[in-house]
Amino acid sequence: MIHLAIVGTGGIAGSHATSFSKIPGCKIVAGCDVDEARAAAFCSTHSIPRSYSNLELMLKECRIDAVINATPDRFHAPISIQAIRAGKHVLCEKPLAMNYAEAMTMVKAAKSKGVINMVNLSYRNAAAIHKAHQLISSGKLGTVVHVDASYLQSWLVSTEWGDWRTKPALTWRLSTRHGSTGVLGDIGIHLVDFVSYAVGGVKTVNAHLKTFTKIKGEKLGEYTLDANDTALMQVEFENGALGTLQVTRWGTGHLNTVQLLVCGTKGALRMNLDKSYDKLEISTGKDLNPGKWKEIKCPKTPSIAARFIKSIRTGINDQPDFKRGAEVQKVLDACFASDAKGKRVSV
Ligand SMILES: NC(=O)c1ccc[n+]([C@@H]2O[C@H](COP(=O)([O-])OP(=O)(O)OC[C@H]3O[C@@H](n4cnc5c(N)ncnc54)[C@H](O)[C@@H]3O)[C@@H](O)[C@H]2O)c1
Repeated sequence: MIHLAIVGTGGIAGSHATSFSKIPGCKIVAGCDVDEARAAAFCSTHSIPRSYSNLELMLKECRIDAVINATPDRFHAPISIQAIRAGKHVLCEKPLAMNYAEAMTMVKAAKSKGVINMVNLSYRNAAAIHKAHQLISSGKLGTVVHVDASYLQSWLVSTEWGDWRTKPALTWRLSTRHGSTGVLGDIGIHLVDFVSYAVGGVKTVNAHLKTFTKIKGEKLGEYTLDANDTALMQVEFENGALGTLQVTRWGTGHLNTVQLLVCGTKGALRMNLDKSYDKLEISTGKDLNPGKWKEIKCPKTPSIAARFIKSIRTGINDQPDFKRGAEVQKVLDACFASDAKGKRVSV
């Protein structure tokens, strides 16, 4: 039995508790949060035997094999490294760190201790992206030339996930002082991983980030609303293809929409995860002239949670690992540099 602990028992922690409870041979034995009452309530809801507000104490007292780090972004590196130094395997939430340099300290720490390390780039749970990766690498689309991808959220307009003015789990995402790197760090990281897993690495970027006015003075209590909330990226991939990647919290009418179109010299594929995680459409061969599309059902993919547990069992570290998390972070660093300089930069 693999014993797990969740650190940070806020919004996403519930999904981890549910996912891991479905995997045989593992058990969540502890929950830890700086907010003692939240940790206790979470542990009670998910029947987790031990609740902590002190990570050091938990690592000392509890028999744990692995830690799931579900704290806000700025705590990913310090908490993961503390767990790694205690010899624990770590599944860390995305973005892996605040920047590439910090992500690399995590890569090195995990390597030196020889622990399993993965980052929850959760759109890898979509079967469609694995099929896209396979179709593109097998040459089915010919040479990839054009890519168009977007990840649209609308919680600055919609209150479906709560009101950002009163829900701290949303408000901290708008404030750099609270460790947010904006929509780019929050969901841009997903889109860059998703697209580059299918198409290949990103060579250069030209990015434009914007923070729209949300309230007068851009201050809400302790929060200064200065983190970017829309990011447009024009990218050139290592194989020479060009692409546009867009992420926003102003995608009115779209709660959480991830879309990808990849066009090559012999065919194209497209997917919309709002419609399906395990289907994509393809246009190749005779379908190219009328511009027809066929739907493909993609083989099921094990979840990142299942792959993390399997990695611990087998000792073979599955993807996406910390190194991959750092590589994606490097693209984001280039986006910030490009926006600051107002020109295209190399990754
Ligand atoms: N992979 C995904 O698709 C996905 C989805 C949502 C959130 N996330 C990521 O998960 C992380 C958490 O997001 P959330 O929405 O759950 O935020 P949240 O604010 O709801 O929860 C974070 C929790 O961490 C606790 N915390 C803060 N500092 C801590 C510390 N030093 N030690 C222990 N606990 C601490 C907070 O008290 C809070 O309960 C973020 O990094 C976010 O980017 C990933």
